[in-house]
Formats: sequence, C-alpha cells, structure tokens
Amino acid sequence: MVTLKSELEIRKMHEAGRLLAACHREIKRRIRPGVSTLDIDRFVEEYLLKHGAYPEQKGYKGYPFATCASVNDEICHGFPRNHPLNSGDIVTIDMVVNLDGALADSAWTYGVGRISEDARRLMNTTLEALYCGIEKAVPCGWTSDIGTAIESRVESQGFSVVRDFAGHGIGPSIHEKPQILHFRTPFKGTMLKEGMVITIEPMVNAGSPLCTMDENGWTARTVDGSLSVQYEHTVAITASGPLILTQQ
Ligand code: MF3
Ligand code: CO
Repeated sequence: MVTLKSELEIRKMHEAGRLLAACHREIKRRIRPGVSTLDIDRFVEEYLLKHGAYPEQKGYKGYPFATCASVNDEICHGFPRNHPLNSGDIVTIDMVVNLDGALADSAWTYGVGRISEDARRLMNTTLEALYCGIEKAVPCGWTSDIGTAIESRVESQGFSVVRDFAGHGIGPSIHEKPQILHFRTPFKGTMLKEGMVITIEPMVNAGSPLCTMDENGWTARTVDGSLSVQYEHTVAITASGPLILTQQ
C-alpha cells in the first residue's frame, strides 16, 4: 500500500535518517585496509543500539546481519565477512535504521585505500545518477521520471543499471509501494504525491547489467565479474520538492 506520511511522521523519519547519516560518517572514518566487513557490521549494530535505535535489517525475512556489505563484484545483500578488506577494494554498506518505529534506509559505496581510476569514475557516475533521480522526486511527477533520469546519466558514461532490484516506498515497513525502478520503462508508473517517502538506490555495473545469485540465497553479484556500485537515499516528497532524509 502507498501511505502518505504526516509532517510529524516525516520529522521522525528524518531523525532516523540523521542517525543513519552520522553512522555512515563514522564508517567512512573506519574503513581502511585490514578492517573486515564483520568489524563494520559489529560497529554499526553497537552504534545504533547505543543511540536508542535498532538495525532493522537484522531478522528481516531471516536476514542475519545489521548491514549488507557488498564488495567489488557483489551488487547487493553481501554478507559481512571476517576477512580483511584490501587496498583497491570498493564496498557498499547498506543499512536500515529504526528509531522509535520510524525508518530510514541508505547505502553508500566506500573506496578502501587507493582505488583505481575506473572504480572512482563508476562511483562518481552512480552518485550523480542518484542525484539526477532525486531531482525528479516531486509532487505530480511519475516514478518513471526517476528511472529515466538515472539510466540516462549512467548510459552517458557507458555503464549499466541493474534491473533486478528496485527502490521502494518505506514506512511503516522496509519495503512498501510504490516500486522505484532505476531504468527507463514504457509505463509512467505511479504518480508521486506530497507525503510519500521513497528510497532511490541505483546499483550500477561497470560491465553487464546482469547478475547471479550466490548459494546463500541473498547475495547478488555481476555475471561478468565487473565492479558494482550503489548509493541510496531515503527521500520525502514535499510541497517544496525532494527532502533527503539521509543526507550526510
Ligand atoms: N536496505 C535494503 C534495501 O534497500 C534492504 C535489504 S533487505 C535485507 O532494500 F534483508 F537484506 F536487509
Ligand atoms: Co532500500
């Protein structure tokens, strides 16, 4: 169901989003060669609990961790591992914060140590594409405007948008309607309205857009082994335009 949030509900989701953004800033300070994604996962869980929040992904549909940690060719839903990150790796940390029942969802890709020029370009393009999509999150716009803007930016740089995962409405549960596709479609989709809160979370591959599923039943990775990057914000649609609730 598409729910419209009151100003108070959006304020509470914004509080959850600010905490999530602060947690991402802490992660950025901690990520370096030798640190493992399990270290990061433990840090995030403790940080959120200490601030009176809950890592909503833990236990969601049986998902076992506070974060998703997707390294290099992993697209999303990577399991945190007890294996040190190396210089040159890129890693996407995705989490959902529940603060007093209000949710916020944001993923960010980090470079570890010194990363390649190609990885940097993929990261820059994906972040730019996210912001192109966010610009379209306005009352009376269509969900398809978001996907068109994102895919156009990504294609202009020769990269490809993953089609198997989508953004979504958020609150009261993690995944609500409407679905936010990150690519062009022949349909307009859903009309955006003031009070909707959605995630926009393009996953962009350096090579083929296709993915394969790991044996753990969760982790998606690129079929050709190319790098994949993701940035995600939770965005409220307001009369004065898109309000990013997870801005760092
Ligand atoms: N944060 C993820 C998303 O953007 C949620 C993944 S569900 C989980 O939709 F169970 F894997 F955590
Ligand atoms: Co999401």
